[in-house]
Amino acid sequence: MDFRRRLWRVFLLLTVLLATASSWRTAIGTGRVSNFNYWTTKLFLVATGSLSHNNSNTTASITTQRKHVALLLGVRPTLPNAPKWLYRKAWKLHNALLPLLHWNDVTVENKNALKVLWCKAITSVDPQSICQDNDWTYDMMPNYSRWWILKLIPISLYPRLHHANVEYRTVFLNRCIQQEIARLPSSTKIRLVAIGGGYDVRATRILSQNPRVQEAWELDLPVVIHGKRALLERLKERREKTKGPVQLPELRAVDLNDLDAVRDILAEFPQNKKQGETWHTIYVIEGVMMFLNDGLPKELFQLFREVARADGENASICFADHLTCSESSDSLTDEEERETVKSLFGSAGWNHFIHWAVKPGKARQMGCVRIHE
Ligand SMILES: *[C@@H]1O[C@H](CO)[C@@H](O)[C@H](O)[C@H]1NC(C)=O
Ligand SMILES: *[C@@H]1O[C@H](CO)[C@@H](O)[C@H](O)[C@H]1NC(C)=O
Ligand SMILES: *[C@@H]1O[C@H](CO)[C@@H](O)[C@H](O)[C@H]1NC(C)=O
Ligand SMILES: *[C@@H]1O[C@H](CO)[C@@H](O)[C@H](O)[C@H]1NC(C)=O
Repeated sequence: MDFRRRLWRVFLLLTVLLATASSWRTAIGTGRVSNFNYWTTKLFLVATGSLSHNNSNTTASITTQRKHVALLLGVRPTLPNAPKWLYRKAWKLHNALLPLLHWNDVTVENKNALKVLWCKAITSVDPQSICQDNDWTYDMMPNYSRWWILKLIPISLYPRLHHANVEYRTVFLNRCIQQEIARLPSSTKIRLVAIGGGYDVRATRILSQNPRVQEAWELDLPVVIHGKRALLERLKERREKTKGPVQLPELRAVDLNDLDAVRDILAEFPQNKKQGETWHTIYVIEGVMMFLNDGLPKELFQLFREVARADGENASICFADHLTCSESSDSLTDEEERETVKSLFGSAGWNHFIHWAVKPGKARQMGCVRIHE
């Protein structure tokens, strides 16, 4: 399909979206639509024909987990009974929209990470979500598209597919990190390390807001780090005008499959540590291990442990990922999956398994582990 036709389609779609948005908005404003989200969800299902699909047999176990984990986290659940193809379609549509969303924008090349960022941006401005982040994510988004996608169109119009799924893990990880920080003695200094964090703003936000966190590091592929730097600089420029100081994390470009390169970066950790100080490292792992080579997660966890031991520190890992991809974990029960992940960490020397939950979607295994001396 030639470019002009594609552009024309996207334009039509957006016009329809905008028109619907403004009429729905009026309806909500006058209180005529009470259960707004419910009805947009239903409408979307009817429009895409998915109400006629009966997936109860194939997705039964996932659905219970979904309900359970959503309740547990206080997140509104993903669209009930949405079939897999709907998720795939939505992801593809998002792909088609990216050039338009980033028209004339700074260069950000990793499409998947970028789409995850948009998902996070949607929940970050959702008045009904507990992930609202006081515009931290919003301030990373492109100049002209951020306003109409995130502020003009009511968030409840976006069917709760990928962004709801990402919301689960955002809530879970934020909470785990908060808990890990809270339980440490106040004299302990904290180092936050995002492994393959993509374009996520979490490390920057926590570093800038939480005085307990002394430094933050982000390790990701060169192509991601390049775009991330541009996004963070824009964020800093925007926020420092009105909303206060922004501290940027140490960005390090590395292929996580290359253990020696990762080891070299982790060796820089104690550079700011003074005599007699106690430090604790919190690793945050979000949807990245599933893209690495077989067996790599275990080796990385071993490496993290070695580094903590060498520096005489304790450490935690907060994760939302799929750590056991290579094994056929699709057929496992919740309990078996938990044991598999627990023994993976155990075999890498991480013996304190603190939290655990399963969510729907790819990065489905969520939890927190620790090492003490
Ligand atoms: C879907 O099918 C199951 C049996 O496979 C049945 O129990 C259930 O009522 C059906 N649901 C709907 C909405 O038709
Ligand atoms: C549900 O799935 C199981 C196995 O996955 C299969 O044996 C069974 O026939 C299915 N039931 C229906 C009603 O499709
Ligand atoms: C985007 O907005 C910022 C300030 O909000 C401005 O400095 C920058 O020049 C703008 N960029 C473009 C491409 O318009
Ligand atoms: C590590 O954790 C243990 C148990 O919580 C604690 O007693 C010890 O002081 C910690 N050590 C460091 C260096 O933080």
